[in-house]
Amino acid sequence: MARLAFGDQLPKVDTPPPGPRARQLCRDLANHEAPGINTLGSGSATLVWQEARGSNVVDVDGNLYLDLTAGFGVAAVGHRHPEVVDAIQRQAQRLIHGLGDVHAHPLRVQLARELCRLSPIDEPKVYFAASGSDAVEIALKTSLLATGKPGVLTFDPAYHGLTLGSLQVTSRQEFRRPFESLFHPWVRRLSFGCPIETIAELLQSEPNIGAVLLEPMVGREGLIPAPGGWLREISGLCRRRDVVLIVDEIFTGFGRTGAWFATELSGVQPDLLCCGKALAGGLPIGAVLGRSDLMESWRRGHEAMHTATFVANPLSCATALVVLEVLKRDRLPKRAAELGQLITSRTERWSGAFEPVIDVRGLGLAWGIELDSRGTAQALVEGMLTHGLLALAGGPTGKVVQICPPLVVTDLQLAFALDSVETLLRSL
Ligand SMILES: Cc1ncc(COP(=O)(O)O)c(C=O)c1O
Repeated sequence: MARLAFGDQLPKVDTPPPGPRARQLCRDLANHEAPGINTLGSGSATLVWQEARGSNVVDVDGNLYLDLTAGFGVAAVGHRHPEVVDAIQRQAQRLIHGLGDVHAHPLRVQLARELCRLSPIDEPKVYFAASGSDAVEIALKTSLLATGKPGVLTFDPAYHGLTLGSLQVTSRQEFRRPFESLFHPWVRRLSFGCPIETIAELLQSEPNIGAVLLEPMVGREGLIPAPGGWLREISGLCRRRDVVLIVDEIFTGFGRTGAWFATELSGVQPDLLCCGKALAGGLPIGAVLGRSDLMESWRRGHEAMHTATFVANPLSCATALVVLEVLKRDRLPKRAAELGQLITSRTERWSGAFEPVIDVRGLGLAWGIELDSRGTAQALVEGMLTHGLLALAGGPTGKVVQICPPLVVTDLQLAFALDSVETLLRSL
């Protein structure tokens, strides 16, 4: 059989990870980097990535992995896609940094046009952001400017980022508690998937709520698809009450759930849509797509009212245009939908067949295996690592093991991953 290209290969682990080189680098990092920005605070070394391509990652000790994290959902078109690399090289010959909000550059214009074309919102405008959290901040500010109402209804669980504004709408107490004294008293929270009547009652009793913010499918906090019809009902409620519907598609956007945007699966048109992650193929970017009339509320004076030095930087715009082209040309959202069907048929009996499995759920290439405890989830993640599978455990209590590979994962790689997980579940 012909040797598979780097990117499409099956994993091969020769040195038990983290290997000696990774341990050395982690010791150095722990000596120099503040503990809040890495996971070394728990006292154990982690992997250190050296190289990646497609669905493969190689660590500094030479082990080859299959990435079931897609680098936090960023590598939809795969790591270091050749056309992304080419776009970076070409753009680097011309312009790496522009003048943010003051002077534009042609690719920013092109990307704004392309995002508006793709948007599930009629006649939208785009507001570029420096990251996903920054996009959430922009959406919250847009809603306040447009409605004058400071209240926001969000759900539990939800992850919207950790900057001061986005943290207030993120649910996990572990992230929130130390900073609570800086919070404003305007966020209301209900359970994700709660009865629509509960939402209606809250909006009725709190007229100060100007926006409902939700993930169409909970990502990092447990991979939970919204119950059937829920989004549509919320959208109707928001329309009737003149409340802005903000969807956070930072994780779900650009094909992960089998549609360009997960909201489209419910036939819902949000008022504001936050995106980021996969958009620029590995370079930082964020954006809010929104109804033009809401975006008009930013028109006041001649200062840019929310911006950042590196916003819409030329390299990110160049790669984003390529990523959108690759997603479209290679029909990757459709491929995610097809592979999602395959995962459904492989995993639908797991919760009955394997004692520690509480639930297996997902859409497209965003799947979660909920286990009976954090310890079991950790054991599965560690077992997967010995098979060369990179996976994260998430959810509020760390019990949900995530299977979110790049959308270019090969049939063979996916089958290998599912076979390995099944073998491990049998012995947990
Ligand atoms: C749904 C969602 N919203 C917001 C964010 C925050 O994005 P960023 O980390 O780019 O600030 C994330 C990141 O994981 C996310 O998954």
